Amino acid sequence: MTSKNQLEFDITHYKPEEEPFYIDVNGETEIFRAAYKDRLPIMLKGPTGCGKSRFVERMAYELNQELTKSKRKNKPSEIPLVTVPCHEDLNADDLKGRYLISGEYQDGPALVAVKNGGILYLDEIVEARNDTTVVIHPLADHRRSLFVEKLGKVYEAPDSFSLVISYNPGYQRKVKDLKQSTKQRFVAIDFDYPGEKLERKIVAHEAGVNGNIANGLVDIGNMVRNLKGKGLDEGASTRLLINAGKLIASNIPPKRACEIAILNPITDDIDVYKDIRDGLEDVIDNYF
Ligand SMILES: Nc1ncnc2c1ncn2[C@@H]1O[C@H](COP(=O)(O)OP(=O)(O)OP(=O)(O)O)[C@@H](O)[C@H]1O
Ligand SMILES: [Mg+2]
Repeated sequence: MTSKNQLEFDITHYKPEEEPFYIDVNGETEIFRAAYKDRLPIMLKGPTGCGKSRFVERMAYELNQELTKSKRKNKPSEIPLVTVPCHEDLNADDLKGRYLISGEYQDGPALVAVKNGGILYLDEIVEARNDTTVVIHPLADHRRSLFVEKLGKVYEAPDSFSLVISYNPGYQRKVKDLKQSTKQRFVAIDFDYPGEKLERKIVAHEAGVNGNIANGLVDIGNMVRNLKGKGLDEGASTRLLINAGKLIASNIPPKRACEIAILNPITDDIDVYKDIRDGLEDVIDNYF
């Protein structure tokens, strides 16, 4: 991004401009740095809304800051962050690129990241079909290269290139999973909801609420998480707690904000979840 007000930017130049707010939870920053230096592909593993994407943005920001300061010769001008939200219809050409009617070849995001020595972040990789996922195999081992059949070329990734994928192991695990041959190419950094103290700080900062409200939201979040497997499929993510906080900061009464931002999104079927909702509503009543 070159300007704060710019709504459109070229993916070859995207990098977070302002420092993304991120609190290290479990030494992941140091691990990422070591893996990046060793040119190892990185898997971020954990539930939805626990900070994986924010973490990648922060790391991209830090690496670019260091690059700017570095006096190294032949350094790249920047390390763009190229994010691909994966989905079932994503195919190999979507990643590598294709010929346009004009006859020009339009590079896909994987090729863009390789050519520019950027960070290729494949978000929710498990959503992509296995035949698409194998495209990244040569990028995720010692070869560090991308085969682009249509151009008849192999592109070797420069040192600054890094492959990062995110993966939520709980989600749809029985229906879809990554192949072992994909998983076993990555170092996997575990993500989980931050501990209470950190999560309070995060919620207060991101939602703009005071310490008391942040404390209440985090406590409610932990109670909901304790119900995971005892009736609820997923706990309340940090993202949901922040959303509730934002509504409260916009003067929605706290109880209503929690209902709208926390209870409603995770409990669809009112009948099935009636007891759980009643219980949680009591808890919320107690807090706010
Ligand atoms: N450690 C942290 N430091 C700062 N903010 C955090 C942290 N963890 C979570 N957050 C906040 O939680 C929000 C959700 O996190 P994020 O979008 O990174 O989740 P995610 O793990 O990528 O989820 P998904 O798998 O659904 O994409 C962020 O926008 C950020 O506000
Ligand atoms: Mg994400």
